[in-house]
Amino acid sequence: MSEAIDNHVKIFDTTLRDGEQSPRIALSPAEKLEIANQLNRFGVDIIEAGFPITSEGDFAAVQAIAREVEGPAICALARTQSEDIQRAYDSIRDSEHPRIHTFISTSEIHMTHQLHASEEDVKGQARAAVAIARSLVDDVQFSPMDATRANIDFTAEVIQIALDEGATTINIPDTVGSAQPHEYGELIQRLYERVPDLHKVVLSVHCHNDLGLAVANSLEGVRQGARQIEGTINGIGERAGNTALEEIVVAIKTRADHYGLSTSVILSEIARTSRLVSRLTGYVIQPNKAIVGSNAFKHESGIHQDGVLKERTTYEIIDPATLGFDDPNIALGKHSGRHAVRNFLEQHDAFEPNYFRQVFKRFKEIADHTKGVSPELMLLIAEDVQRREECSYRLSHFGVESSSDSKQATVRVVLPGGSEQTIIADPSHYHELDGPIDALFTAISRATDTDYELMCYTLTPMSSGQEAVGEVRVILNVNGQNIIGRSISTDTLEASAWAYLDALHQAATDNKSANSSC
Ligand code: KIV
Ligand code: ZN
Repeated sequence: MSEAIDNHVKIFDTTLRDGEQSPRIALSPAEKLEIANQLNRFGVDIIEAGFPITSEGDFAAVQAIAREVEGPAICALARTQSEDIQRAYDSIRDSEHPRIHTFISTSEIHMTHQLHASEEDVKGQARAAVAIARSLVDDVQFSPMDATRANIDFTAEVIQIALDEGATTINIPDTVGSAQPHEYGELIQRLYERVPDLHKVVLSVHCHNDLGLAVANSLEGVRQGARQIEGTINGIGERAGNTALEEIVVAIKTRADHYGLSTSVILSEIARTSRLVSRLTGYVIQPNKAIVGSNAFKHESGIHQDGVLKERTTYEIIDPATLGFDDPNIALGKHSGRHAVRNFLEQHDAFEPNYFRQVFKRFKEIADHTKGVSPELMLLIAEDVQRREECSYRLSHFGVESSSDSKQATVRVVLPGGSEQTIIADPSHYHELDGPIDALFTAISRATDTDYELMCYTLTPMSSGQEAVGEVRVILNVNGQNIIGRSISTDTLEASAWAYLDALHQAATDNKSANSSC
């Protein structure tokens, strides 16, 4: 590892350049400016704002960022051609800290098939490009593209030329994301040995994620002495993307014991920055993505929930609140235990000791059939259990048959006095039945000896999937007053029957629900 280097790592954000090169991302100048302002709040050291020669729009965006965003260095990318470098300069010249980043490939594959250039040509182009850039600005970054697949001696020679011409940062790209962490670390180490002048400038790492190793490779690079890390928010970028900067800065902070390094970023801005980039690029973040995924800090298994509720650090290495996330860290689902459910209900003032056993049983039945139980659904479950327990009617059996030429419902209801009433409603005994719900409600109204007009019936899904939980809400007209009944179930007919009984119970009690309409 290089000696005499300090422990501060610069964060070079290329969300607006390499990140924007992702398929289907095209940010307007205004959107790029909005992201750049947020990157500034996040505290990155350098913003690579674009590749100005590629389009008028990109030029305008880089120029607007250079003019408006104060604090970080504003960098523009350029190939080695002089027009590229001039265009890059024109876009950033108004920045307080302008940087030009110029690059040329040093790998045999690129030189032969893409550049059609000899080693001498590449050396000459690198020399001229850095010299021109350096005549325009003090801060010049040079990258030997595809360095991880290039001959190291040739790359070292080109780097030495760039340094001789005044480059202030040398960036080592793993352009195709093929390097393994130990190989990438070794490359950095060997370049320091071959080019001792590298100790006088900042060495930077730039990794792609084709093998899922961009973050690991970058961290290995800084372990070997690099002091600038390039990457993007949410890891967006060409193909499988770039180093995810949020992962880098949190790893450096969380494992300071291991790296002994620091950055200038403000960790509490991570949530806001990540969400903004996701929203404006349209790139949805996978739920289990490290640091910024919606599940990155959630515990679903009962054992983990129990541990975290007793002491957060049993299963958490990061407090999401320090990154600006405020979602609850407990996700209720089929693996959750009593402790987590009870804790959730207590936090929401919905814990009722007399009914907790039934609430937990209902929760488990529902969680087994749905994809996670949202906080809203959990509260509905607790409320529904209490409503059913306190209902003066009990549904002990129901069955509905419905076909194109026959509708029939059977219900057995325990009445307030304790007697049981069984009714079969079919068209031969009653009016024409419109459908299964009509048959069911007709049977219940006969069994309970009531005859109220149904004013409204709504069914609202409370979860997704084939066995989604539905909430049924009915309104009965009881002597001119609208009385609401509600219930939930994965079985719509069961929820409907209980909602109807709930309304009958409300009608018979003093604390009736307020008048309501559909
Ligand atoms: O991946 C790469 O090689 C690049 C260069 C322009 C630095 O993005
Ligand atoms: Zn790249």
